Amino acid sequence: MKRNGMCPVCFIKRFFTMPSKVSEVYPEGLYDNGAAMTPPMGWSSWNTFKNRIDENLIYDTAVAMKEKGLLEAGYRFVNIDDNWVCNNRDENGRMQSDPLTFPHGIPALVEKVNALGISLGIYSSNGTATCEDLTASLYHERLDAETIAEWGVEYFKYDFCHNEPMSEYAPLVYAVTVSGNCEPATYQCTEAVLSGLARRMPTKKTECGKYVSGLDRREGAMTFENVEVKDAGEYDLTVHIVKHGRYKKCLMIEVNGKERVTVDFPDQKKYNDTAKFSVKVNLEKGKNSIKLFNPIGSRADSAMLQYRLMGRELKNAATKVSAETGKPRKNITFSICEWGWNQPYKWGRLTGNLWRTTPDIRPFWPWIMIIYNHNVKLYKYAGPGGWNDPDMLEVGNGKLTRNQNRSHFALWCMMCAPLILGNDLRSISDEVLNIVTNKNLIAVNQDALGVQAKRISKGDVDTLVKPLSDGSVAVCLFNKGGKKKRKIDINRIAADEYSGLEKKSSYEVKDLWTDERFTSDGVLRVGIDKHDSAVFIIK
Ligand code: GLA
Repeated sequence: MKRNGMCPVCFIKRFFTMPSKVSEVYPEGLYDNGAAMTPPMGWSSWNTFKNRIDENLIYDTAVAMKEKGLLEAGYRFVNIDDNWVCNNRDENGRMQSDPLTFPHGIPALVEKVNALGISLGIYSSNGTATCEDLTASLYHERLDAETIAEWGVEYFKYDFCHNEPMSEYAPLVYAVTVSGNCEPATYQCTEAVLSGLARRMPTKKTECGKYVSGLDRREGAMTFENVEVKDAGEYDLTVHIVKHGRYKKCLMIEVNGKERVTVDFPDQKKYNDTAKFSVKVNLEKGKNSIKLFNPIGSRADSAMLQYRLMGRELKNAATKVSAETGKPRKNITFSICEWGWNQPYKWGRLTGNLWRTTPDIRPFWPWIMIIYNHNVKLYKYAGPGGWNDPDMLEVGNGKLTRNQNRSHFALWCMMCAPLILGNDLRSISDEVLNIVTNKNLIAVNQDALGVQAKRISKGDVDTLVKPLSDGSVAVCLFNKGGKKKRKIDINRIAADEYSGLEKKSSYEVKDLWTDERFTSDGVLRVGIDKHDSAVFIIK
């Protein structure tokens, strides 16, 4: 695997060293698009089919999902991963499907799949191309979000290939002008309040004889505190800069401490000394404060802001389409897929509904173990509306054994992971179908409390506990080695506050694989085969 020109070893090293941190938690609260209050369940084309996909496969998979009882078990999305899109946009700049493999277009497919009671999902990249080098959505966020919403798509996976990070540099600002709904009014930098490393520098190139530098990397800010307009509404804000340096720059414009827009500046050629860039801002009647700074203190800030932009556009687009058509709003589940590079668990819930925590999964047991070991530690960050995503399921793929398939599924259920199947549903075996439609495990995954399991002990056998909404607790004993016998001390589990279990003299127990129910005085003895898991609900 070569990622953005990186060798496989460097790629893994970079992932585990995690250099960058999000500088600030932006104060707008959780991403509330109304979707994914429990982990999303569905299927995706990627794990099995890669670029061998077409509209017939997608439709046949939806039919199989319904006929084989998967829809009834809770699987709802059929997601088309990379390779559905044509490399060219249409005459209106909109994305369009590949003419050879999706000749009837996505809206027709949505209609057919919806008629089965299934929702369609689609994919793009937060870059200039997808991982398969096709049309992608960076710099086209609004149009692509609106296109997707108009098509009736209900799940959107947003990858990170060909990403261009936002610049950590700010331009040299010497004035701002407010215009549009009023006579243009210009405020020179001599009127601005400076903070941090921001400072006024002398120059002959501007009217006021100064410009402000030091706005880079969140290190400094300049604020115009008295920007006055007669009426509330949308205005043009023009930022005047002194040209400097052949590299890209970026500014965030914060209005009245709330609304934030970012402006990207291209690298600057020097035919003239100065330049100007305009954005739309909403101003209040009377005095407004306008703060300018560069928001990029780390690589993570850039990723977060770019994902957040798309998240907002998707939300707005869903609302807009519903208002225009008079049809009920179709929420779009927003799946962030930046492979865990920028600690997305720290900002994912502000930005989307699920976030990949690791590089791509493979149907290879040691790799699934690495992914599990990383994701299990992130239990604090998941909750209704926002989930850690250790990637799509490989149950039924490669050479995974029955027990490995069972554990893979049980662990993903315990970790509140999205249950996105990655096998060929048209030819799913009974053994695999039984695993992925296990009602008890699905109920644990979909429990309304939405608390991810915590690993309370680690070793040859890991013990995971997941509190459930009715006061009971799911307990999973996952055997990483050969056949073992273990004892579960229920009183000890009840003593761990995380479990939420009340200590009692006798407990009701349900074995989630066999559906057997029995009572226990507090000690459960279990035998677990190599790589298998025993899972119970205890009340
Ligand atoms: C990345 C993602 C995968 C898949 C491919 C498609 O690698 O992490 O899940 O979407 O791109 O090209």
